[in-house]
Amino acid sequence: MSLRTPATGHVEDVSPGRGTLPPRAWYASSDAASLSLNGRWRLRVSPTADAEDESFAEPGYDAGDWAEVTVPGHWVLQGHGAPIYTNHLYPFPVDPPHVPDENPTGDHLRAFDLPGDWPAGGGAVLRFDGVESCARVWLNGTELGEFKGSRLPHEFAVGHLLEPSGNVLAVRVHQWSAGSYLEDQDQWWLPGIFRDVTLLHRPEGAAGDFFVHASYDHVTGEGTLRVDSDVEGRVTVPELGVEVAAGEPVTLPVEPWTAETPRLYDGVLATAGERVPLRIGFRTVVLEDGLIKVNGTALLFKGVNRHEWHPERGRALDPDTMREDVLLMKRHNVNAVRTSHYPPHPAFLDLCDAYGLWVIDECDLETHGFVEQEWRDNPVDDDRWTPALLDRAARMVERDKNHPSVVLWSLGNEAGTGRGLTAMADWIRDRDPSRLVHYEGDLGCRDTDVYARMYLPHAEVERVARGLDGGTLRRRRLPLILCEYAHAMGNGPGGLAEYQELFERYDRLQGGFVWEWIDHGIRHPELGYAYGGDFGEELHDGNFVCDGLLFPDRTPSPGLAAYKKAIEPVRIEAGDADGTVRVTNRYDHADLSHLEFELSHQVDGRTTGTRRLAAPPLAPGESAEVELPEAPDGGGLEVQWTVRALLAEDTPWAGAGHEVAWAQRTVAHRTPAPAATGVRPRTDGDRITLGPAVFDARTGAVRALAGVAVRGLRLDVWRATTDNDDGAPWQPDTRYGPLWRELGLHRVRHRLEAVETDGDALTVRTRVAPAGREAGLRTAYRWTSDGTHVRLTVSVVPEGDWRVPLPRLGVRFGLEGCAGDAVSWFGGGGEAYPDTGPAFKDLRWEASVGELQTPYVRPQENGARADVRWARIGGLRIDGDPEFRFTARPWTTEHLDAARHLTDLVPGDTLWVTLDHRQHGIGSQSCGPGPLPRYFLWPEPTEFAFVFSAPDA
Ligand code: GAL
Repeated sequence: MSLRTPATGHVEDVSPGRGTLPPRAWYASSDAASLSLNGRWRLRVSPTADAEDESFAEPGYDAGDWAEVTVPGHWVLQGHGAPIYTNHLYPFPVDPPHVPDENPTGDHLRAFDLPGDWPAGGGAVLRFDGVESCARVWLNGTELGEFKGSRLPHEFAVGHLLEPSGNVLAVRVHQWSAGSYLEDQDQWWLPGIFRDVTLLHRPEGAAGDFFVHASYDHVTGEGTLRVDSDVEGRVTVPELGVEVAAGEPVTLPVEPWTAETPRLYDGVLATAGERVPLRIGFRTVVLEDGLIKVNGTALLFKGVNRHEWHPERGRALDPDTMREDVLLMKRHNVNAVRTSHYPPHPAFLDLCDAYGLWVIDECDLETHGFVEQEWRDNPVDDDRWTPALLDRAARMVERDKNHPSVVLWSLGNEAGTGRGLTAMADWIRDRDPSRLVHYEGDLGCRDTDVYARMYLPHAEVERVARGLDGGTLRRRRLPLILCEYAHAMGNGPGGLAEYQELFERYDRLQGGFVWEWIDHGIRHPELGYAYGGDFGEELHDGNFVCDGLLFPDRTPSPGLAAYKKAIEPVRIEAGDADGTVRVTNRYDHADLSHLEFELSHQVDGRTTGTRRLAAPPLAPGESAEVELPEAPDGGGLEVQWTVRALLAEDTPWAGAGHEVAWAQRTVAHRTPAPAATGVRPRTDGDRITLGPAVFDARTGAVRALAGVAVRGLRLDVWRATTDNDDGAPWQPDTRYGPLWRELGLHRVRHRLEAVETDGDALTVRTRVAPAGREAGLRTAYRWTSDGTHVRLTVSVVPEGDWRVPLPRLGVRFGLEGCAGDAVSWFGGGGEAYPDTGPAFKDLRWEASVGELQTPYVRPQENGARADVRWARIGGLRIDGDPEFRFTARPWTTEHLDAARHLTDLVPGDTLWVTLDHRQHGIGSQSCGPGPLPRYFLWPEPTEFAFVFSAPDA
C-alpha cells in the first residue's frame, strides 16, 4: 500500500498536468464577454501538500475564518510565509522529481456570480495566466484538473459547470512540485496565483486558435498576409482594403514593422460567433549570410534582460508597470528585450509590438541546479520529462506567435544540453519556421540559429568576431550575440562603450543584452529593500538578486545612463575638418528625419547660446559633416560645444525635444589653476599659518582652509568595495576587492616623518602603509599660497612589493557642519568611474548632498562626479590640477563599507569629501570580466594638486 496520499501524487508527477485545453493564441475578444476573477480571494496556507483535505472545494464550504489575499499576487508577499532567494541552487534536496514534505500549500477560494448580461448559450473557458508552481482546480465542486508551468497560460472548459450565481472556484497551489525542477531561474521563489484569472465566454462559432503570418519582402516593398484559423472566418484590414477568407494569402504594398518603425495595421478576424482584433506587423526574419536579418537588414541588438519585478508585488505586474518598463527602455535607446527567463505577461508583448522592441521570447525552463552534480539526472536529457518540456514550448509559442516583436524563440536558460531541448527546438521549427531559435547552453549550436554566449570578456568577443574561436561548422556560420553581458550589479557595469565598439566594428557580432533590467529588491519596513538572506533563508545568494539597471523602485541607475550613451543610435563626433561635427546614423532601419540637432556653446560650463544645426536626414549607416559656427571667446575660461540629437516631434514613448544622443568637445582650454605661491608659512605657537590656511604646527595637519574648519585631511586609497570589486566567488580571474582587504588597504596607517617649512612651502612628509606589510606609499603634502589661494600638491611614491592596483588615489577630509549644504561644480553631472562614463555632460551642476549619493541596494562606493574642473563644497572652492573626481557624503567610507542596507547609513553633520586623482575601473566581475587593463590604477610615482579658496575669491 502506498503511504503517499494519491491526492498529492500529481505534485511529483513529471507530466505537465491534465484536464487543460490545448494551448492557443492569447487574445482579448472584441465582443465575447469576459469576467475578471482578479481581486480578493480567501486563502488558507498549510505547511504541507496534504495537511488539509479537499473539502474546501465543495459547494457550501465556509471559509469565513480564512485570511484574504489579492490575486494576482504571491501569498509570501502578503504576510503568509516568506520569499526565498537562490541563484542556481535548488532550495530543496536535488532528488527529482521529489519535493520536500515542507511544501507550503495555498488553498484559494473565490465565489462569483455571472454578470446579468452574461450571454446564454455557448461555452466558457477559465484561463489562468500564471500560477507558481502547481495548481489543482475545482469549479462548483467538480475537479477540472491540474497543471504546472508557472509562467504560462492554462485553460479549462467550464461552460457546463457555470451557474448564474454562487459559483465557487477553488484552487490549491503548491509551492514545490516536479515543475520546480524546471524553474530554477535566478530569482525569488514566489508561490501564488500571480497573473490574471479570467472567465471567457465562448459563443457559438467563437474563434479558436489562429496564426497571423505577415511577412515583408524588402525588394518589392510588399507584404503577404495569411491568417490561419481553426475556425472558418474572414480577415479584414480596412486600412489596406484587405478582406479575405482566413487561410487565404494576400500580397500588397505595405509599410514594414521594425522595432525602430513599429508600423501596425489594425485588422479583425471575424468568425461566425466572434470578432478578434488583430494588430498586424509585416516583417520577415531570416538567417542569411550568417546574420539575423529582418526585412533584409542585419540587426544589432541593444538589449536588456528583463525579469518581471515589482518591489511590493513581486512578479504580479500591473499594466502601468509594464508600460513604464517599455517607456524607460525606449527612452534609454534600448531596442531589444530578452524575456529572461520565461514568457512575460502577455500584455508586455502588446507593448513591445506597439512601441517597437525586438523580443527574444524565452521559455519557462531552467535546470541550473543540476550543474552541481555535473548535470547528472538533468530533466532536459531524460525522456520522461520531454512531454513537460514540449508542453512548455507549445504554451509559449502558441500564446505569443502573433506578436511581430517576437523575432526569436528561446528554449530556456541554463539547462545544460539534452534530447529534450532538441525536441523543443524541432517542435518549434516545425510549428513556426518564420522565426529563429535561441539557446545559450548549446556550444555546438546544434539546436540554435545563433551562437549565444554570456559574459564573454572583450578579447574573447573579438576572437569570435574574427572567427578565431573554432567550434563546430554550424557554429562558425552563425552570428554571435551576448544574451547576457555587462552584469549591472551595484556600481557599474564598466566596459560598455568598448563592447559597443566591438559590436559595431564586426558584422558577426549582433549585439547583446545587459544583465539585467531591474534590481529585485523587496520593499521592507526596516531594511529599505530586502535581498537574499533577509528572510532567514537556509540557502541564499545575498544581493546577487539586485543586479539591474533600475533600482527596485524603477529609478534609473547611473548604469542605465551609461548604457543609453553607449548605444546611442546617432554618433556625433568632431569632424575631420576643423570646426565641423560628424553625424552618423547608427539605426538599422530608420533614417534621421525624426530628429533635429541642437548646438550650444559653454563657457566655464555655462551655456551661452543655443541654435538649430541643420543635419541631413541620413539613411542607416550614412554619415555627414556639418559645419559649426565659430565658438565664443572664453577669455581664459574653458569653451566647449555641445551637440544634441532630439526628437523633432512627439512619439508615443517620448515627447518632442527628448534627447537621443549628444556629444561635447572642448575647443579652448581653461587657464590652469593658480600656482599660488609667494606667501611664506608663519609659525605662531602651536599653529602654522600660510595665507588663508591654518595648520597644526606639530603634526602639519590642516585645521582650516579659507576660514572653513577641515578635519583629517590625508591620502586616501580605499573605497567601499563595489559588488564588481568583490566579484563572484566562481570568477577565475583575480578579484581585487578581496585582495585589497587582505592587504589591509582599508586600514592603512599614516606615519608622520617631517613637517618642513622651506621657503614659501609647508611640506608634510608621511608614509602610508597597512599593518603587517612592507609595501607602502611615501606621501608628501606640499602647501603653498598666494595669500588668497592655497595649493596642495600631493606626491605619492610607492615602496616595496605592490602586486595589486589601488582602489583609488586621492585625499579625503571632513567639513564639520556642512552635510546640509548644496554642492556645485563644473564637470560631469552624474556618477562616473573610469570605465562607466561618460554618460553625463560636463556642465555646471548643483546638488544636495543627498542627491550626490547613488542608492545601491547594498551600500558601496558610489556617486563620484568625474572630470571636475572646480567644485564648491562646504564653503570652499576647489580647483583641480588636473581635473579630478569628488564624492561628498554625510558618513565616512568606513561606515559605507560596513553597511549592508541603506538604512544602516545614518547621516552625521560632517561632510566627508574625497578628491580623487584617479580611481580603479569598475568592470563587471560580479558575474563577468573585471575592468579592462587600461582602467587599472597601478601604484606608480604620481603627483596631483588642488587649489582651495573662498568660493568667490
Ligand atoms: C546568468 C543567468 C542569469 C543570472 C546571471 C547572474 O548565468 O543566466 O539568470 O543568474 O547569470 O546574475
